[in-house]
Amino acid sequence: MKSVPQTLFVISVIIAVVIAFSAGFYTKSSLGSPEDTLVVGTSTPFPPFEFKNEAGEVVGFDIDLAREVANALGLDLEIRDLSGPVIGFDALIPTLGSGGVDMIAAGMSINSERTEYVDFSIPYYDANQGILVRRDSLFSCPSSVCEAEHLEGVKIIIQIGTTSQSWVESNLPGIITDPNRRLATDEIIQVSDLDLIIKLLLEGEADVAILDEPAAEGFAKQDIANLRVAGRLITDEQYGLVVQKGDPQNLLPTINEVITELMRSGRYDELIAKWFQ
Ligand code: ARG
Repeated sequence: MKSVPQTLFVISVIIAVVIAFSAGFYTKSSLGSPEDTLVVGTSTPFPPFEFKNEAGEVVGFDIDLAREVANALGLDLEIRDLSGPVIGFDALIPTLGSGGVDMIAAGMSINSERTEYVDFSIPYYDANQGILVRRDSLFSCPSSVCEAEHLEGVKIIIQIGTTSQSWVESNLPGIITDPNRRLATDEIIQVSDLDLIIKLLLEGEADVAILDEPAAEGFAKQDIANLRVAGRLITDEQYGLVVQKGDPQNLLPTINEVITELMRSGRYDELIAKWFQ
């Protein structure tokens, strides 16, 4: 039988390992990323920008873009995918802030709330919000352009920490009542995992999912038998790559050069064709 001190030692080692691993989501050094690696945070699934292919690898437009940036910096690329029911898209900015990743490539819209905490590259993609429904849904908007009034009495599901959530908060006031933003009400379900959003939508737990239109189209393409995009909310968003506030690693000049050169050379259109065919 083990002595009490020995058992205590084993327990404290286990606790230390658990803490080290959970901290690994937030700090780069604890996972031992070498200096010659650009660690890029993303959040799957968000097709076609980032999603897992059949082999389980994270691929997509954003990942190719991140690879171009890593190449230009002469660094290896490591993708850190923050996705799941607990740590999701909304953990990306805090993780960047604490140095857990060097850059975010996650279809992240440039906006003033975020620029208080992070710096963005020049824009690389334009998007609106989309309304994803079950294929047999009767939900519709005139000419596919939806307004707040069309969503009255409709049960909505959104991803936490996104501009979809901000749209709901500013356009359907009173709907989001939970301060932690994780409670479902009669009108809304808020979760951090887009896989779960699609599952709940298909199961009829919500009538519509509000998410970026290109990703809504991406999901509809993956499950054309059961999903369709019923309309859009005009939000005029632009995606940027994201670095720490003040750009302490001086990445932005190269990132912006890469985006400019991709667009100038026609390589950008090739990537669009590759991922959006
Ligand atoms: N563009 C939206 C935003 O910035 C949604 C992005 C979601 N991205 C993702 N990888 N899940 O809030």
